[in-house]
Amino acid sequence: MKIYTGGTFDVPHIGHAIFFEECKFYFPNSQLIVALNTDEFVEEFKGKRPLFSYAERKDYLNNILSIDEIVPNIGGADSKVTILQQKPNAVVIGMDWLEKDYCQQMKFDAKWLSENKIALCYLPRYADISTTLIKSRMNKNG
Ligand code: CTP
Repeated sequence: MKIYTGGTFDVPHIGHAIFFEECKFYFPNSQLIVALNTDEFVEEFKGKRPLFSYAERKDYLNNILSIDEIVPNIGGADSKVTILQQKPNAVVIGMDWLEKDYCQQMKFDAKWLSENKIALCYLPRYADISTTLIKSRMNKNG
């Protein structure tokens, strides 16, 4: 079983670490692939580069034992490119995405997932912590 998740994972925090643990808990003995957004894509998408560079974010993720492989998200907004390259059995993401349109964000739909035999799974989100919250606290506290 190969499972895939994508993200920026800027500013390491406990929410990310628990998310990776959950991946291995819900999919025991699976191979966990993380598609990491490039600095160029984040800048294009969010208007500014992440606080931590691709190399720094990759370095941090390399030290998380539950991750088996880190690959660059080469398709940018179109996640299908990297997903087809990796051929996972499931794409996993945190439940915060239930409130937003994850398929639209990733540029795939239920038909494409079904044709490629890929399940889409939402895992519980850990606590109220996020990169956005950390950045806003840092801005307030100087
Ligand atoms: N995630 C989680 N629990 C948290 C924060 C993030 O499970 N407390 C998960 C997200 O659902 C996603 C992955 O971690 O599957 C990477 O999310 P990312 O968007 O990089 O992290 P956030 O901290 O939520 O970043 P941002 O505030 O920029 O959205």
